[in-house]
This record gives sequence, C-alpha cells and structure tokens, in this order.
Amino acid sequence: MDEDQPWGRTLLSSRPADGGGGSAGGENDPSEHAGRQLPFYHLPVLLQEVVDLLQPAPGKLVFDGTLGGGGHSEALLQHGARVVAMDQDEEALAHASARLKGYADQFCALRGNFRHFPQIVEEAGISGFDGMLVDIGVSSHQLDDGARGFSFNKEAPLDMRMDTDADQTAADLVNTAAEEELVRILFEYGEEPQARRIARAIVKARASRLITTTTQLAEIVAAASPKRGKRHPATLTFQALRIAVNDELAALRDFLAAAPRWLKPGGRLAVITFHSLEDRIVKQTLAHLSAPELDRPEWPAPRPNPDCVLKLITRKPVEASEHEIDLNPRARSARLRVAERLPS
Ligand SMILES: C[S@@+](CC[C@H](N)C(=O)[O-])C[C@H]1O[C@@H](n2cnc3c(N)ncnc32)[C@H](O)[C@@H]1O
Repeated sequence: MDEDQPWGRTLLSSRPADGGGGSAGGENDPSEHAGRQLPFYHLPVLLQEVVDLLQPAPGKLVFDGTLGGGGHSEALLQHGARVVAMDQDEEALAHASARLKGYADQFCALRGNFRHFPQIVEEAGISGFDGMLVDIGVSSHQLDDGARGFSFNKEAPLDMRMDTDADQTAADLVNTAAEEELVRILFEYGEEPQARRIARAIVKARASRLITTTTQLAEIVAAASPKRGKRHPATLTFQALRIAVNDELAALRDFLAAAPRWLKPGGRLAVITFHSLEDRIVKQTLAHLSAPELDRPEWPAPRPNPDCVLKLITRKPVEASEHEIDLNPRARSARLRVAERLPS
C-alpha cells in the first residue's frame, strides 16, 4: 500500500470518533471547534527535549502513540514531519484533530490502543517510522473532567477507562475482584503500604452496598488508612486502579516489544513515563535491546545478544528543568528515555 494514503484526512480512525453513528456535533465534534479557541486540554512535558531528540524534519514520518491534546504532535508537525497519531480516548482524538486541522496533509489520527499499533498502522498503509513517541498515563483533561471518574476529588461514576468502549470500569473491578487480587493491585501498581487494610475495607463495604462513585471509594479508603503527609489517603489507590483498569503496564510492554522492528535504521524511539514502575520497564527493556552481548554466571563466556537492535541515546533519563516544573508541576515526575535503531 502507498504510504501517502492516509494523508489529507483530518481524522482517520479505526473506530470513528463520533462513535460511527453520525454525531450531530457538540463538544466532541472537531468541526464545532473550527475558527474558535479550543479549551485547555493538556500541557505537553519535555517538549523541546522530545523535538531535540526525535529530530523531526520534512521527509520524516513519526508515530505519536499518545496523541492526548496534540501538543507533542503539533511540535513534530511544525518541524515539517508527517505524524501518524493514536489515542484510545475518542475525546482526545476529537480535540487534537480539531487543533491540528491545518496539518491535514501531514497528519492522521487513528483510534486505538498503542499496544495494537502494528495492525492499525499496517491497515493505514504504513511500514516504518523515523521516530516513535509515547507519553504514557493520563492527560490533564482526563483527570480534570469530573465525569471520567479518575479523580477522588470529583463526585462521578467510578469509571477510569481511557477507552470508554472497554469492558471493565473501576467500579466493576472494586465490586468483583477477590480481596487478594485487590491487595496485589494496590501493592503492585500503587505501591500502597496499606494495601491489605484498604482491600479489606473495600470488600467489607461492598458487601452491604455496591461501590459506584469516586467519592464513595475515597471515603472508604480514607476511613481505612490514616492520612500521611499532604497526600490524600486515596491517591495511591486511585493510581493503582487506573493502571489496572487500563492494563497500562502490559500495554507498555507490548508496545516496547513491537516498536523497534517498526523503526527505520537510524530511527528513534522516545518514551516518557511518570511512575518509577513504568520507567523501570522502559529502562530494562531498552538496556536489553541495546546490549551487544548477554552474560550469565553459568556461561563460560558472554554470548552475542540476538535481540540487540538499538543503541541508547540517553544513558540516564532526561528530566524536566526547574523552569518547566515551575510552569507545570506535573512535569516533576516525567522521565524521557530515547534509543536509536541500529543499521540492519
Ligand atoms: C499524557 S497524555 C499525552 C499528552 C500528549 N503527548 C500531548 O502533548 O498532549 C496520554 C494520552 O495517551 C492516551 N493513552 C494512554 N495509554 C494509551 C494506550 N495504551 N493506547 C492509546 N492511547 C493511550 C491517553 O488517553 C491520553 O490521551
């Protein structure tokens, strides 16, 4: 298939952003935004660093697996690259497609989970990239939009799905998971020291009444676990459930396993994470994929690594400057790692 095929479409979606049913417009209809200022959605982190390291330019094709508000994609487009972007959240696709309307010849947006990008971009006729970016986690819009259920501060149905067509909500999880499974989720994904107490409290509470709202869950957690420092007692529980509901760590692993083969020689892979759990996965995967040799105590000598297809560009993660953190406190925990595809 011809690589140029997707261009010229403002929104090319594997599942149409209007749900396929011919939306009558409204906030999520990109055409509604034409000619007027879009509301704030998300401030991209490490923007200049991403541009410096991915080196977008005319003739280059870049994949943005986490389109969000479109801030990173916009910078890549401004430098002349073509961008194929994905997001599993149809609100993000609608917002960013409206924002990037002026780049229709260089940009296409596809709905889907970046863990499945190979099938989705193949269907769009694409065979390789000069750059690939994922900036994982949730956007400010998702957190701030009370209705999405990501925030313990805002009364809403306990949802937390980035992909609103996905089967399992956070309410489904807290009302059905076995106590031991809840302990594992809170402990592994939230690193919550009170995981056991909180899981027990959830199981006790749901026996008398289903847990259906954010504030209901926040109160159960707060009653079970005393406040430590400035943080709300439900912070780690909400983080853990969000990661579980969206299967975020497995999605990251799947993406990292597939991405190197989609990079052209000299093409670069950039990953931004916000949690040590995710950064550890990226660090270990890139270290393995860039090690020319493997060694084990039981081997007489190191052996060539058949998986070595990358070279590390950032030995240590790139972090936000004090200036950026002042402007955007969320950037404090951002870590960017970049690797380059070796010539084949
Ligand atoms: C931190 S925001 C990205 C912000 C974006 N870089 C910008 O400049 O505005 C993360 C976005 O990625 C999306 N997302 C997270 N995990 C995803 C996944 N596995 N597949 C597709 N989209 C995902 C979320 O829906 C959200 O819109």
